[in-house]
Amino acid sequence: MHKNKSNTELNSKLDAVSIALKQSIKNLDSYTHVRGESLYVDDVNVRQGTLHAVVFDSRKAHGKIKSIDYSKAEALDGVERIFTYKDIPGENEIGGIIRDEPLFAENEVHFWGMPIALIIAESEFIARKARNLIEIDIQELPVITTAKQAKAKGSFINAPRSFSLGDTENTFKDCEYIYEGETFSNGQEHLYIEAQGAYAEPLENGNIKITSSTQGPTAVQKTTANVLGLAMHKIEVDVTRLGGGFGGKEDQATPWAVMAALATYHLNQSVKLILNRHDDLHMTGKRHPYESTYKIGLSKDLKILAYEAEFLQNSGAAADLSPAIAERTLFHATNSYYIPNVKTMVLSCKTNLPPNTAFRGFGGPQGMYVIESAIAKAASEIGVTSREIQEINLLDENDTFSYGQIAKKVEAKNTWDSAKSLFSSDALEHDVEEFNKNNTSFKKGIAFMPICFGISFTNTSMNHARALVHIYLDGSVGISTAAVEMGQGVNTKMMQIAAQVFSIPIEKIKIETTNTTRVANTSPSAASSTADLNGKATLMACNSLLKRLKLVASEDLNTKPEHIELKDEFIYINDKKSELSWTELISSAMLKRVALTENAHYATPEIHFDKTKEKGHPFAYHVYGTAITTVTLDCTRGTYEFDWVKIVHDYGKSMSEGIDLGQVEGALAQGIGWMTMEEIAYNDEGRLLSNALSTYKIPDIFSVPKDVEVIPVETKGHELAILKSKAVGEPPLMYGIGAYFAIQNAMMAFNPNYDLKFHAPMTPEKVLMGLHNK
Ligand code: MTE
Ligand code: HPA
Ligand code: MOS
Repeated sequence: MHKNKSNTELNSKLDAVSIALKQSIKNLDSYTHVRGESLYVDDVNVRQGTLHAVVFDSRKAHGKIKSIDYSKAEALDGVERIFTYKDIPGENEIGGIIRDEPLFAENEVHFWGMPIALIIAESEFIARKARNLIEIDIQELPVITTAKQAKAKGSFINAPRSFSLGDTENTFKDCEYIYEGETFSNGQEHLYIEAQGAYAEPLENGNIKITSSTQGPTAVQKTTANVLGLAMHKIEVDVTRLGGGFGGKEDQATPWAVMAALATYHLNQSVKLILNRHDDLHMTGKRHPYESTYKIGLSKDLKILAYEAEFLQNSGAAADLSPAIAERTLFHATNSYYIPNVKTMVLSCKTNLPPNTAFRGFGGPQGMYVIESAIAKAASEIGVTSREIQEINLLDENDTFSYGQIAKKVEAKNTWDSAKSLFSSDALEHDVEEFNKNNTSFKKGIAFMPICFGISFTNTSMNHARALVHIYLDGSVGISTAAVEMGQGVNTKMMQIAAQVFSIPIEKIKIETTNTTRVANTSPSAASSTADLNGKATLMACNSLLKRLKLVASEDLNTKPEHIELKDEFIYINDKKSELSWTELISSAMLKRVALTENAHYATPEIHFDKTKEKGHPFAYHVYGTAITTVTLDCTRGTYEFDWVKIVHDYGKSMSEGIDLGQVEGALAQGIGWMTMEEIAYNDEGRLLSNALSTYKIPDIFSVPKDVEVIPVETKGHELAILKSKAVGEPPLMYGIGAYFAIQNAMMAFNPNYDLKFHAPMTPEKVLMGLHNK
C-alpha cells in the first residue's frame, strides 16, 4: 500500500514519457460495440432454473394502502413467489444520504411507480401477467408535484443550505441596475440505452453474487447487505460495463439489485430483474426540476456587484442524492463569473414524484441556468447584449468563489478570448445581424456560454480510489479499479496509463470487470472524477511495480537502477537498448521471487470543506470553456435548427483526444436536449405523462447542431488531473445552456415586444407562442 504524498513526483516523471498513444487511441470498447459483442447484464449467461422478476409498483402518487390481494397473481401458473417488505430479513431501508427511503412500501405510497412487491416467475412474461392480477386499494392523500407547492406546505427533505460572500444587501444600494425574476428548468430523463437491471446468483454458504448495471458497486453491496441483514463480505457485486448511466445509475441502480438478491436469498435460485423501458421511465427519478428566483445588481459599467438566488429543488419523495446535488447548485451558482457579493440558498423540496437523482452536471447546470437568465434579463433591460455583461465579469486568477476557494489556473478569459479570436466572433455577430435585417420569416440568434465546473466529489471524503495491478508470468497485465465503464472511455484511459508506465502495447493490458472483491469500499464512478481518482491509483501501483522491476533489471544487467529505462518492451541502459526484453525481465523477477502484484490507494490531496461555515476548498481544480451557438428560427412554425456550436475547451493536456472529443459532443447534445426539447410532464395526480419515446423527445441526428467545432485551449493542465488530462465527463453539458439563449435572442429579433421568459425547455411550442404574443 502506498500513501499519496508523492503524486506530483510520480506525475512529473510521467510527463517525460511521451503520450504517444494519445493521437491514435480509440475507445477500446468500440470493436465489440460495433459488432454487438459487448456484454451487459442482460447478456450474462444465466444459470439453469433462473427465475425472472417484475416489480409491482404503485399507480397512485400518495396514499394509504388499505388492502392488497395477491391471491390471483400467486395462483397463476409459473408464478413462484411474491415478496413484500414483510420478507425483508434486515432493514427495509435504501436511503444513501438520509435514511428516508424504503425498498418496498409498507403502509403508504409516496410516488407513482413506488415499488410495493416483487413478483418472481418462470418468465418475465408470466410475472408481468401476474402483476395485472394484483388487487390493491389505496386511500388517496393530497399529491404535491411541484417544488413551490412543497415549499408552501413546508414539505422539505432537510434543512436549507446557504452560501454567502460579501454583503449583498448593502451592495444593492450602490447598484445602478437591479433586476429580479423567476426561472424554471425542467427535469431530464437519463435514457441510458441499457435499462436498469441486475442478476443475482446464490453462491455457497449463503453468499450472493450480483451482476449489476450500476455506477456504484459498493452502494449496491452495502445496501443489499443492510436489507438482507448480512455482512458485506457475503455480497459480491460485479460490473462489466453499462449501456450508459449519466448519473441515473449512481444511486438508482441499487433497488433492483437488492430486490433480485432478496429473491435469491429466499429461493436459493438465480434471479434476473431487468426493467423494461416503460417501467424504467416511470419508476426512476430524473434530473431535478428547479424553480428559482434571482436578484442581480450591476454597476453603470456592467460589473455584477451583487447576486442573490433562491433555488427550489424538486427532490421527489425521498432524499436520494438531492442534498449533494443541491450543494453543487450553490457551488456553481455564479458559473465562471466573479461576483464579490453573493447570497444563495437552496431548498430541497419533498414532493410526490419519484426521487430525483444525479444527472450529468449534478445540480450545477440548474444553478448556471439561473445566473445566465439573470444576465440575459439585465442585458435586455439595459439594452446591451448578454455577451457584453458576461465578458466584463469573467473570473480571474485569485478571485474568490462564494464558497471560499481561491480560483487558481483560471482559464475563463483564456477560453473566452480564444473563442472570440479563433472563431472571429465579431464577424459572426455581424452575420447574424445582417441575416436578421434581410429576413423576416427566419431569424438567427447567437449566444455565448462560458462554463466553469468544479472537479471532485463535493463530499471530500468520497475522493479516493484504489487499483490492483497484476503482471502475469508472460508479461501481460491485468488491472482492477473501482472505475465503471459506462461509455465514457475510462477503461481505455486506465490501459493507457499502464501502457505508458511499462512501455508495453495496449494489447498486453486487460481491464478487469469492476468487482467489490478485488477493489473494495469504492466511491461511485461519478463527479467526472473516475479517471482522475482511479487513474492516479493505477499510476501509483504501476510506478511501484516499475521501481521494483528496475531493480531486478539493474541486477541482471549489472548497472544502477537509475540508469534503467523501459522502452517499447525492452530494457534500456542510459538510452542504449539492452538484450533484456520485458517478458524476460518478468521471468527474472519471478525467479527472484519479486512481487508482481501491487495495490495502491489514492486520496485527492488539498481538498477540504467545512459545512458549518460553508467555506473551504472543495475542488481539486476547475474545468473551463466557452461555447458560441447560433440558431436559425423558422418564425412561421416556431421550429429551429442549430447552425453550429463552436467551442474552446480546457482539456488540460488531453491523454485521449478522440474520447474527450466524444465526451464534449455527447454532453453538448444532452445539454441542448435538456434546454430545448426534452419535456418531462407529470399530471396533477403525479403520473408521468412523458412515459415513452413517443411523448418524450430527445435530440436526434436532425436536432443536434449541423456543425460542432471543438478547439482545445493550450493550458498546462493540472497536477491533480490524471496525466494533466482534465476531467471531461460533465462540464461540456453546460455548453448546451447557450442554446436556450441563442433561441431567445432570435425570438427578440423577430418580436421586439417579446417578454423574456426563463422557462426551460424552450420547445417549438413555446417559441411559437412567444413570437406571436404582442
Ligand atoms: N458518457 C457516456 N458515454 N455514458 C455515460 O453514462 N456519464 C457522464 C459522463 N459521460 C456518461 C458519460 C457522467 S454523469 C459522469 S459523472 C461521467 O461521465 C463519469 O465518468 P468519468 O468520471 O470517467 O468522467
Ligand atoms: N458529484 C457526483 N456525484 C456525487 C457527488 C458529486 O459531487 N457527491 C456525491 N455523489
Ligand atoms: Mo455523474 S451525474 O456524477 O454520474
